[in-house]
Parts: sequence; C-alpha cells; structure tokens
Amino acid sequence: MEQAVKRIGVLTSGGDAPGMNAAVRSVVRSAIARGIECIGIRRGLNGLITGDFIKLDADSVAHTINRGGTILYTARSQEFMTLEGQKKAAATCKLLGLEGIVGIGGDGTFRGLMALSKQGISVAGIPATIDNDIVCTDYTIGFDTAANTAVEAIDRLRDTMQSHERCSVVEVMGRNAGHLALYVGLATGATVVLVPEEPVNFNEGVVERIRQARLAGKTHFMIVVAEGAGSAVEIGEKIHETLGLDPRVTILGHIQRGGTPTARDRVMATRMGYHAVECLAAGKTNRVICARNGQMVDLDIAEGLKMKKGINEQQYEVLKAMTGIE
Ligand code: F6P
Repeated sequence: MEQAVKRIGVLTSGGDAPGMNAAVRSVVRSAIARGIECIGIRRGLNGLITGDFIKLDADSVAHTINRGGTILYTARSQEFMTLEGQKKAAATCKLLGLEGIVGIGGDGTFRGLMALSKQGISVAGIPATIDNDIVCTDYTIGFDTAANTAVEAIDRLRDTMQSHERCSVVEVMGRNAGHLALYVGLATGATVVLVPEEPVNFNEGVVERIRQARLAGKTHFMIVVAEGAGSAVEIGEKIHETLGLDPRVTILGHIQRGGTPTARDRVMATRMGYHAVECLAAGKTNRVICARNGQMVDLDIAEGLKMKKGINEQQYEVLKAMTGIE
C-alpha cells in the first residue's frame, strides 16, 4: 500500500523568473488539498544546507499569484555542488521530516535535485527560467512574461529610433539559447535577429540585411541579439565601421526577469505545481514536470536533461521570410 506523504518542502533556486510565486502558491495549496504540510525552504538549495525554512499555509501564499520575483528568495549554491553539501541538505530534510522537495528553477536546480534524490529524498522539479532552455519541456515558467517585457521595451525604442532614423541594437537575455531573442524578434518585426543556434556571416546576415532594408526605403533598423550570439556593443561597433551608421545599443538585462507574470505564466506555474505535488504524493522521485503538447507529464530528470532542444525550426523559417536572412 502507498505510504501517505505527510510533509514536503518547496524552494526556488537559480535565476528568478516571473511566475515562480504562482508555482510556490500552487505547490502549497495542492499539498494542503491532499492533507500534506508544506514548508518553504528559503534561498534556494542553500537553504536546505543551512536549515533556512519558513512554515507555509494557504494564507501565507495569498496575494502572491500576481507577484514577480520569489517570496522564498533564490540563490545559486556552490556548497550544494559538493557531496558534503548534499549530505547536509539531506540531513536537514530528515530533521524537519521532509519526505519530498519540490524545486522550482532551471537545469542547475535539477542537477541539485538529482543529487538530493541520491541521498534518499524524493524530488520533483518545476522548470522556471526566462531562457526556455530546459530540453524536455515545451515551456518554462517566466518565458512569456520576459518576452512581453522585452517586446514592450523594444516598441518604445522603436519610437525613438524611428524619429531619429537610427539603428538600434538590443541585447536580449537567454544565456546560451536564442529562444527568447527569436520570439521577441518575431514579435517586434526586427530587421535582424541573431541567435547562437543559427550563426550568420556578419556581412551577409547583418550588413547586407540593413542595406536591403535601406534600399527598400527604411530609415531605422532594429537588430535583436541573443546574449549567447555575441555582444550587442561589439555588433554596434561593427555596424558603425562597416555602414557608417551610429547605432544605439541597449542591453535589456535583468529588466526581463522582473514584473507581474502574464496569465500564461500564472496558469503554467499553477498547473506544474499541482503536478509536482501529485508526483510526490504518488511516491515518485527524481521527476521533472514537463509541458508537452499542451499536457503536463513527468519524466525522469536525468532522461529529461539528456534530450536535445534546438531552436524552434518553424519559427526560424518564418523569421527568415520576414527578415530575408539566409
Ligand atoms: O538563466 C536566466 C538568466 O537571466 C540568463 O538569461 C542570464 O544569462 C543569467 O540568468 C544572468 O544571471 P545573473 O542573474 O546571475 O546575472
């Protein structure tokens, strides 16, 4: 017979993402709905090492679904990378009577969860990163909000670039992945979008494209660069040297990580939180919750991280048609 789980922990780890609070809220309330107590672990996986926890009930997560950031704080823990740190974390779980941990974060968080699982603690991971670079899931919490934030910022830049007939180079986050930049580039009608997965020759992909746009009568140009595809400052300098334009460079940076989560992020976070608790309540461990074809499924974390996620080929084809990049 299945052993009833009595108490679990929830934490957010790695870079924050809008919608993390909605996921925490969902974990807490889904747990309570099953008669499971939920403890919040603060400051990421490190909080398990130091025993930094807070008791959570349905009320403690009230009015958080719409809040950006994470009420549990977050961190990237060096100590958790060590076996000693992992043993300390497992010892904290045992001391507090935590039979499972839901970790909300990116691939670094999931690697930490896998290590914790090896120490005998059940774990479930919820993918949350604005980069959308977790291979096994179609979607990671925070992406939609970050994309909309970037789009709003670029729309504003476009107004002033249009007035001054300038070239704008905008750097979008994404670490080594171009999902965010591609999506934002499509949404803003960028002249050029540079992503690490599809390197382009500078002369053909940037210079020639701007030239073609000018020949078509355009007098302002929007170049969107994924941070993994190169430095916007350097690209701006190269555009200046080759075309004589005087580009303005904007690095959107951490602006993209804050703000009120969109409806999509809130709903995905709420669904994922529910499924993570369902997994732990069913006695599963080492699972990552994945959105696949509109459904939530859970996969073994190691299996999930092994999969390859390239850029969305269809989106890139559309981008090529829109920008003329070959
Ligand atoms: O993974 C999320 C992310 O925002 C990346 O897009 C970016 O490269 C990185 O985190 C920035 O990290 P930090 O917050 O440590 O500067």
